[in-house]
Amino acid sequence: MEDLKKSIKEISNEEIIRIVISNKMNKENEYNKINISLKEKNNKEYYQIEKFTDKQVFHENIDKNDLEVKLLEFMQDYKQLAAWSANNNFDLKISKKGKVFLGKKKSDNINLLNKSHNKEKNYILKEGMIIQPLIDLGVFTKEGKVVKSMYDKYKQINRFVEIIDDEIRKNDYKELTILDFGCGKSYLTFVLYYYFVEIKKINVKMIGLDLKKDVIKKCNDIAKRYGYENLSFELGDINGFKYNNKVDMVITLHACDTATDYALYNAIKWNSKMIFSVPCCQHEFNHQMKAESLSILTKYGIVQERIAALMTDATRANLLEAVGYKTQLLEFIDISHSPKNILIRASKGNLSKDKKEKSLQEVNTLIEQFNFDPTLYKLLKDDNLI
Ligand SMILES: C[S@@+](CC[C@H](N)C(=O)[O-])C[C@H]1O[C@@H](n2cnc3c(N)ncnc32)[C@H](O)[C@@H]1O
Repeated sequence: MEDLKKSIKEISNEEIIRIVISNKMNKENEYNKINISLKEKNNKEYYQIEKFTDKQVFHENIDKNDLEVKLLEFMQDYKQLAAWSANNNFDLKISKKGKVFLGKKKSDNINLLNKSHNKEKNYILKEGMIIQPLIDLGVFTKEGKVVKSMYDKYKQINRFVEIIDDEIRKNDYKELTILDFGCGKSYLTFVLYYYFVEIKKINVKMIGLDLKKDVIKKCNDIAKRYGYENLSFELGDINGFKYNNKVDMVITLHACDTATDYALYNAIKWNSKMIFSVPCCQHEFNHQMKAESLSILTKYGIVQERIAALMTDATRANLLEAVGYKTQLLEFIDISHSPKNILIRASKGNLSKDKKEKSLQEVNTLIEQFNFDPTLYKLLKDDNLI
């Protein structure tokens, strides 16, 4: 206990930008992972805690000075903590016998932030643009500067918009209906609305859907306050969500686990022209995976987890091909900024019968080899879509 206290004190003595706590000791613990990030609002810094269950993320804000106590509390239940300060990377591990190991490596993380800052001039959303909802949501200061602790979010949003922009340029769209599944606080949703209406001058109708009542209310209040008439937010589950008009584009950013599959399924059913989806928390395959002849892949937990996540997204991409979408997997954001860094880009195209069959066959082979039972596959099959 004393070693743990000492290590946490050493970490907390620096200004930590980000922390990831993982490897829970007790399977019953509902939170698989905890992220802690330094945030800034109204010139006051604080830490935001995100606790990830299989399906949801829960947020809590704490005073900067309470970090040390909070970390000590969390580390009673988890075996691993990674932290990044401006100058160092920390890696804290607790062994099965309770021994504490603290690794510390010099790393110029501030430079990393500054580098992304310099790249800003190429972004579609430039610093200095006054996008009022983003000021309210704490991404920009009143002067239109990016809040330091929100750089990662800012970069992610910009990258997402850039990827959409590449696709949008291919056609002369006059109007689009867009669904953002698992919109959460809706940073992306507000920015996209701004991008379509103010920059591209395209008439859009956008709907954000999420399970969280308070978040939906807040987003609707913001949309109303800024007179964003065609942007609305609805409370509901992606699984079973009904919308009776055409939907041209479906987006998801970090819709947890199989929520991404339900979103893709809805898009396929609606015959949406475009899909942009950044999955996260891909647990399904990891829970199902058996690999008798390739047991090396399941021998190490971390290898299994990563490979299962990659196979999940490859399967999703192939299933999209099997139903006629031209699909790519792109690196969404540098892995040093977020490990959730794959974006599925799919657009309705003329795929040959052979190509579709081959994609489906590849999925079947994978399923057989590793005992997978993918949600998206089941949904499509039950609906006779494959
Ligand atoms: C990690 S957050 C991402 C929020 C936002 N897209 C972003 O990137 O900032 C995931 C969100 O998906 C929502 N979510 C998860 N499963 C869902 C479901 N089945 N239906 C609707 N929303 C869901 C959660 O409530 C949460 O707000």
